[in-house]
Amino acid sequence: MTTRILGTGSAIPDRVVNNQELETFLDTSDTWIQERTGIQSRHTATTETTTSLAVKACMQALEDAGKTPEEVDLILAATVSPDYTFPCLACEIQSALGAKQAAAYDINAACAGFLFALDSAAAYIQCGLYKNALIVGAEVLTKLLNWEDRSTCILFGDGAGAAFVAEEKTGVLAMMQGANGQKGMALYRQETAPDTPFRKTGIRGGAAVNYLEMSGQDVFRFAISQVPESIQQILEKTGWDKKEVDYYILHQANARIIQSIAKRLDEPEDKFPMNLTQFGNMSSASIPVLLDEMNKSGRLKRGDKIVLSGFGAGMTYGATTLVW
Ligand code: COA
Repeated sequence: MTTRILGTGSAIPDRVVNNQELETFLDTSDTWIQERTGIQSRHTATTETTTSLAVKACMQALEDAGKTPEEVDLILAATVSPDYTFPCLACEIQSALGAKQAAAYDINAACAGFLFALDSAAAYIQCGLYKNALIVGAEVLTKLLNWEDRSTCILFGDGAGAAFVAEEKTGVLAMMQGANGQKGMALYRQETAPDTPFRKTGIRGGAAVNYLEMSGQDVFRFAISQVPESIQQILEKTGWDKKEVDYYILHQANARIIQSIAKRLDEPEDKFPMNLTQFGNMSSASIPVLLDEMNKSGRLKRGDKIVLSGFGAGMTYGATTLVW
């Protein structure tokens, strides 16, 4: 037995910010952003929160799978932008859904978070501890961005995507995860450490905000070398030839990264669906939102052979093969 995705859901904030709107307050242009990233617009939270987006996506995933909250054994929430450091997002979801039986905790693997949540759920199910799980990637990254830094704020958007997974005869076939902590400072957000009576940091509690910082080229280089390698490894582990794969569903960071990975794998670009044009990089939400879109539009068919692959701050990376 293995673990299969039986339902999906997603939630995106209403407010759309296109590149032209960014031109009004940043020294940037629609042409530059599209040429370097493929992104045309992103959605940003105004009234929505990480929790409200996650709960909406989870409710949809349960409905799609025909399940009730009471039936859920485990909730795993992947996020780097929760509303609270504690209680964790997964516990907030458990409370909002009334999923009283479910164990719940968060995973921080940045943009690879949803993939790591899926792998963790599959491992629990495989070892017999749980029969099913509700997994979600949810982010309001726009609150962590410096809106005066044109090299980072143009890239990201907010959203949430969820999946209900359960024990089945087919589904997840192989998983691989990794991390390269030595490259961690390529993409980070430092926590604020205010003055205490015993340690002087020069930061007064309350007001200080630290933003996301990134060395774009280092992240780019990491992605285009590590992701193809991860995919080659997972194909070998699964025993699939790349020609058998129907879709490579990758973390949606940048169209140029995805195109470069397709080229390195010598696979046609139309096997690499993208939604970053519309939503930007939604970190842990990007893969599940794309899965939901493809599921609900009928583009994914039961039996399709899929490779999921992600990378993110950490630097974390991973790949999973599954039969839809
Ligand atoms: N508009 C216009 N110019 C911009 C700009 C913007 N939004 N952002 C940066 N620039 C400028 C830079 O200041 C620089 O100018 P200079 O040459 O005068 O110094 C020039 O464009 C080139 O900057 P560079 O950083 O070399 O661009 P790049 O080709 O590497 O593209 C990224 C930048 C961020 C788009 C690219 O590095 C990238 O996508 N990296 C991966 C990031 C990512 O995916 N992160 C999330 C991982 S989960």
